[in-house]
Amino acid sequence: MKARWPSSRSILRQRSAVMRLPRRDPGGAGQTSATRTVGESMLAAVSDPLAAELRDARARTLLLVQDLDEGQWMGPRLPIVNPLLWEVGHLGWFQEFWTLRHARGRPPLLPDGDALYDSAKVAHDTRWDLPLLTRPAVLAYLERVLGAALETLGTAPERAAYFHRLALFHEDMHDEAFTYTRQTLGYPAPAFPAGRPAPGGGPLPGDVEVPGGRFLLGATHDEPFVFDNEKWAHPVEVAPFRIARAPVTNEQFAAFVEDGGYRQERHWSAAGWRWRAETGAKHPAYWHPAAGGRWLVRHFAELSPLGAHQPVIHVCWFEADAYCRWAERRLPTEAEWELAAATPHKRRFPWGDDPPDEERANLDGRAGGPVEVGCHPAGDSAAGCRQMLGNVWEWTASDFQPYPGFVADPYKEYSLPWFATLHKVLRGGCWATRGRLLRNTWRNFYPPDRRDVLAGFRTCSPDTGPA
Ligand SMILES: [Fe+2]
Repeated sequence: MKARWPSSRSILRQRSAVMRLPRRDPGGAGQTSATRTVGESMLAAVSDPLAAELRDARARTLLLVQDLDEGQWMGPRLPIVNPLLWEVGHLGWFQEFWTLRHARGRPPLLPDGDALYDSAKVAHDTRWDLPLLTRPAVLAYLERVLGAALETLGTAPERAAYFHRLALFHEDMHDEAFTYTRQTLGYPAPAFPAGRPAPGGGPLPGDVEVPGGRFLLGATHDEPFVFDNEKWAHPVEVAPFRIARAPVTNEQFAAFVEDGGYRQERHWSAAGWRWRAETGAKHPAYWHPAAGGRWLVRHFAELSPLGAHQPVIHVCWFEADAYCRWAERRLPTEAEWELAAATPHKRRFPWGDDPPDEERANLDGRAGGPVEVGCHPAGDSAAGCRQMLGNVWEWTASDFQPYPGFVADPYKEYSLPWFATLHKVLRGGCWATRGRLLRNTWRNFYPPDRRDVLAGFRTCSPDTGPA
């Protein structure tokens, strides 16, 4: 049987940006922090919303790993996953590096931390072989780093706040990676705190018309924190287009599979057909054919009937593209996606400027998985698109490229290395993404053959849009 996964060489280029680490900041490290009493620091940390978010992120990390045993913490040597024992230590190292060492000039807490946990220096294939901290030791290290970081919150230098947020969002992104790693390896579902049942439900067929025109693509300067690849808003011309109100469902994708979509080369790009031949893919990664023409799907460690009206998930870009060709549709460009989400006045979120909540989007693991595409009508964009944030990441037609005038942020390895190799842009976040991470301008990116990530897609009418 041919390998399902990409080669280790290709993985080196395809690892998610969250696995990368910066080395230095041209702004210079070593500035001294202001002094204040321990009591003042503790009071500030208790009342600082950022402190609460940092604690929340750490609690989510522990929820995602602490129920797993020693063997699961090491796991199989696969190119698309990290050993959890390494990845947990990497989280602590990242926070220490940026918030304590880089921003405040403190000495390292670990003598060999850089050699063990710097993902820019430690080759992926070697991470199983390193003399890593033991599980109790690495958990104690995380606690020590977080405690020190919280103690410094709100103290000079002012720019250190940026690095605390960077560490927060880095942890959020790794927490999503822990989630899909558990899916990849068939571990039990994480015990996410459950929310209320998602409002709405069912399918949501049809397109909406989005008037084209001049649109500001990217983040504006009033954002409190943005990653470098979102900078900055710049005008683009978008032709009028029609885009689906909802992502493609399992029922819709099953029609493509059952019509022989994976057996007919004419539905695939040349690269996509090579991928299909190499992997032997016959259907989405976690689908299992069952008696009576039904499909079962593996969700973490459990098999259950495929939900007809849930969005298809764990499909790679090649599969999304092939579906579009079969269905006589196309993927939206990222400019179209953002315009459909933000129109008409560059909303921060599809529904407006208030942050995500349970009514508007399936995020933060609350539902334990994807919900039906008709859920969350309160989160509709002004154009009439549903679930543009949350539920499933959505592949777009666009290659991941810098916006005009791009300048890398201190965390240089976040975006810059990935412009040179083929990555496709995804938008919108998924059911496991932390809501605080997202906004309409947020860009994710993966190589077109990644199907372990929590991605689906929505489609556009081919009769509209780019010439
Ligand atoms: Fe990372």
